[in-house]
Amino acid sequence: MTEQKRVLLGILLATGVGWLLLAWLPLRKLGPAGASADGAPFGRAALGGEVYAANGCASCHTQVVRPPNLGSDIARGWGARRTLPSDYREEHVIPLGVLRLGPDLSDVGERRTDPRWYYRFLYDPRVIYPGTVMPSYRYLFARVPLLGTPLPDSLPLSGRDAPRPGFQVVPGPEARALVAYLLSLKRVPPGETGKTP
Ligand code: HEC
Repeated sequence: MTEQKRVLLGILLATGVGWLLLAWLPLRKLGPAGASADGAPFGRAALGGEVYAANGCASCHTQVVRPPNLGSDIARGWGARRTLPSDYREEHVIPLGVLRLGPDLSDVGERRTDPRWYYRFLYDPRVIYPGTVMPSYRYLFARVPLLGTPLPDSLPLSGRDAPRPGFQVVPGPEARALVAYLLSLKRVPPGETGKTP
């Protein structure tokens, strides 16, 4: 082998190994290209992702379901399968979370499907979980005059949460976006898009 050939082979090897490690391997881990369509929130739900980030939800909630050998997330019903890197593809806010004071929310849209539940809960979490540390997000709601019959999404509030007579409480644009986002948090079961669990 001549000197020239050896240099050329060296260059090829160096770039080839680099490409394998930095491009091909991560791409393989991301899974098939078509697999992203199921997860990424869009439209109002994508805006809700920003409300989620701005309100510090990720300081108490994670969005990572660990595989069974690393924790009991699946046994707790937080998702049917572990989270994959491809689940976050096309999401521009990726709130993995830092601490778990509350349940993992990767799959919350699958286990809670009624927007009215979310509105009632965000307005006053203690009505549903007495003594919970989750704060109330009532500033995302608006108190508007009650003219005739209540609006369709007026909150059924009673007791200390009830508004003054002649008023009703409805979700504001941020609460609507946030709930659209939470409802969009679903992870498809293994095998459905050809992803490996
Ligand atoms: C200080 C911590 C904390 C913060 C901040 C927080 N949560 Fe929670 N959240 C909790 C806890 C704790 C629970 C579980 C209720 C309980 O048992 O106390 C919970 C429960 C929930 C649930 C119900 C989950 C289920 O599986 O039933 C949802 C949905 C939720 N939170 C959404 C949010 C959103 C959205 C935000 C931000 C706007 C937020 N949380 C901010 C602590 C927090």
